[in-house]
Formats: sequence, C-alpha cells, structure tokens
Amino acid sequence: MFGFCIKVYGCQMNVYDGDKIRTAMILKGWREVPEIDADVVVYVGCSIREKAEHKIWSEMGRYRPAWEGKKSPIVCLVGCMAQNVGRDMMKRFPWIRMIAGPRSIGFIPDGLIRAVSGERVDLLDADAREFNDLDVVPIKRDNPWKAYVTIAHGCDYFCTYCIVPYVRGRFMSRDSGEILEEIRALVDDGVREISLLGQNVDTYGADFDRPYRFADLLRDVAETDGVDLIRFMTSYPKDLTADVVSVMAEYPKICPGINLPIQSGSDRILKSMNRHYSLAEYTETVRIIREGLPEVGLTSDLIVGFPGETEEDFMASMEAVRRFRFDLVHTAAYSPRAGTPAAKMEDQLPEEEKFRRLSEINRLQSSIAMEINEATVGRRYRILIDGPAPKGDGLVQGRTMTDKVVICPGEASWAGRFAEVEIVRAENWCLHGEISEVEGLS
Ligand code: SAH
Ligand code: SF4
Ligand code: F3S
Repeated sequence: MFGFCIKVYGCQMNVYDGDKIRTAMILKGWREVPEIDADVVVYVGCSIREKAEHKIWSEMGRYRPAWEGKKSPIVCLVGCMAQNVGRDMMKRFPWIRMIAGPRSIGFIPDGLIRAVSGERVDLLDADAREFNDLDVVPIKRDNPWKAYVTIAHGCDYFCTYCIVPYVRGRFMSRDSGEILEEIRALVDDGVREISLLGQNVDTYGADFDRPYRFADLLRDVAETDGVDLIRFMTSYPKDLTADVVSVMAEYPKICPGINLPIQSGSDRILKSMNRHYSLAEYTETVRIIREGLPEVGLTSDLIVGFPGETEEDFMASMEAVRRFRFDLVHTAAYSPRAGTPAAKMEDQLPEEEKFRRLSEINRLQSSIAMEINEATVGRRYRILIDGPAPKGDGLVQGRTMTDKVVICPGEASWAGRFAEVEIVRAENWCLHGEISEVEGLS
C-alpha cells in the first residue's frame, strides 16, 4: 500500500481532475498522506501563464536530496503542464517518473502503479481528439458539500494567446446522462452545491447531433433532487444566449453569477486575440444578462499588454471596466506561451509597461468593487457555509448566490449548512457579515 499526496495548481478543471485521481487511488487502496510521508507526489500542473509553470519548475529542485538518498518520493506530473513541458521536465529531473496529459486521465491510476514499481511512464496524449476518461465519481474532495463537474473537455476557439486548446485538446461535450448520473452520485455523497465546468460552458452540446444545449442541461441539473445550488463557469460572450439567462431566472437555485471574460475593451485587440465578438456584441450580451437577472454578479477576465496594445487600446479596456462595473475582474499581464500565435507577434510590450497597465487597471477595478460591495452593507443574504475562514479564529466563510465571499463569526461545525447573514462591512474582495440564523440548528 503506497502513500500519496496531490498538489493541484491552476483552474477548477485541474481541481476536478485532482479529485478524480485522488478518489481512484483511494479506491485502489492507496493512502493520502502528508507530503513528507508520501511515496508519490502527484502534481496537477497549469501552463496558462509563465508564472504558473515557474512555480512548479522551482519546486522540483526540492526533491533532489531525498531522491539521491533513498530514491523517494517519486514525482508524477500530470495535467496541462505535463502536456506542455512534461518531457523536458522528465529529462531534467530524474525523480519525475511519470507524465500524463489531461486527456489521458483514465490511464493515470495504472500509470502511478507502474511508476511506483520502478518504471518511467510517459502517457502524453498524441491525439488532440482522443479522450480517456477516468470513470470514477470524485467523492474524495477538499470540500464535502461542493463539487465540480466538468461538462465539456477542451476548447476549439484558439484565442491567439491561449495554451488551453493545445494542452486540453479539442472541444468535446460529455454525455448529459453521464453528467446527471455523476451529479446524483455526488448528491448521495452529501454534496449541496454543484459547479459545472467548461472552458466555454455555453458551447455545451454544439457537437451533439440532437438539439440539447447548455440551457437544457442547466434545467435538467436544476430538476435533479437534492441539488441546492448550481454555479457554472466559464461563459463565452458570443455563445451565451438568452435561453440560458431565462433558465437562470426561472430556477432560483441556479446562482445568478456569470463569468463573462471580456479580455480587452478594444475591437482591434479583440480581433488580434481571435475573440469572435466586438465590444458592441459584448455590450449586447451584458444587456441581455442584466435585463433577465437584475441581481446578477458579473465577473470578467481581462488581459493587459497583449502584443501591439497601444495606450489607446489600454484606455478602451479601462473604459470597459468603468462601464460594465464588474463585481470582480481576473486581470493578467499578457504572458507569451510558446507555440501560440501571439507569442510570435511583433510589438511585444516590455514587462514594466505590462505591469504598469496591470496595476492601473487593478486600482480602478478595486475602487469599483469597493463601491459595489459597500452598497451591500445592511442587506441580508443566504449563504452556504464552506468552513472556517482561512484567516482569523472563530470566523467562517461562504458565498452569496452572486458568488461574493462573506466572512462571519461562527463555528466550524456549521460548515455545509445554509445561513442567513446581514452584511455589516465591505472590503473590495469580500464582505463581512453577521449570521442571524443557521438552517437546521435548533
Ligand atoms: N475559457 C475561458 C478562460 C480561459 S483561461 C475564456 O475563454 O475566457 C483563464 C484566463 O486566463 C483567460 O480568461 C485569460 O484572461 C487568462 N489567460 C489565458 N492565456 C493567457 C496568457 N497567455 N497571458 C495572460 N493571461 C492569459
Ligand atoms: Fe483559451 Fe480562448 Fe479557449 Fe478560453 S476560449 S480556453 S481563452 S482558447
Ligand atoms: Fe491552467 Fe489548464 Fe486550467 S492551463 S488554467 S489548468 S485548463
């Protein structure tokens, strides 16, 4: 029996994959242990920006003394980063004994067993259209009440800056019956909140030969007994349609929270990014959303310093942030990814300029978020308590339906219950509340 630990980096898709791998290994009789006791350390790595990769590169050196002394622990690198640079890393660090990309997840449990018995295992997927799923319901999760469920693999959009289509392969919707069955199994396991995941959830079903799209799936999930809250991410502006908004308005358990990445406020840059919408079309999508869901929490992603971004283009992004008043924006400085078209474009911006723009836009967004959050003081929300807040004794945290973090005095044992809170104070990234009632406590 081997002891393993899993270290997950990157987005929720990696978290979901990590939960599946963890569950599969526990079902095989392996034990999850602290890293110091592990025979195998599994890294689920991310390649979205250089910084994400750099973190794992710089961690790898730590294993040298242990490896040279007792040939343990061995390291297995899986996920997007393995697909991107796994072979180079394996050459460089002899303690990396296995590499596997996201589309070979089904082969990982056997691969780990081979790796631990001394083999060097290379499971990188050669065919971007192949997908070997791991057929387990991720019941060994970090959070018992919340679960992610991937509804579509890969992405076919090929935004010019993005590595995802190269590492996660072609877009492929999962069978709806399989998704719903997995959700029922998760509910039986105590899950109350389901987050549906995809690089562009609104494209769900586009590859089916029957008319069943994301709005249909949302409705079917909402009709599933025992599911209390439903969230989803990420939405692609061109594909988010009014029927999705109306299903959301119809079912209060579908949280009115939408992540609608704008990426840039300049049509010229959007074109060069190969995003298939203009600012005017994005504006129309936002209008449809706000009209159908007046209380919506609207978040976005935005890249500054894309190749060729002029001061004027950047000002257009600043203006968009001002105009759309997002609740939160995940901003990033453009990071060239080898093999993507944008990495070869001329007019790459100097790092200092990218970071100047990043801090300027962050400052603007942070003041907008503060205004939006301050307006919630005095209001009441129903939240699902996730567990203790990461900082501060005697504090618990949860999220509003609109996906805002709320921190309140409370007891860790309330985790997994719904509570009524009144907001008493706001910060730009979270709200502070007081709980007036915890559901199910007498
Ligand atoms: N499918 C989603 C999200 C993809 S990745 C979408 O289409 O928006 C998450 C975010 O990472 C992106 O929205 C983008 O803002 C950022 N990102 C992706 N590649 C990047 C790069 N090369 N440099 C900086 N940010 C990047
Ligand atoms: Fe990347 Fe674009 Fe696909 Fe999103 S839509 S994953 S940004 S290629
Ligand atoms: Fe990273 Fe892969 Fe997600 S590159 S952001 S873990 S899809």
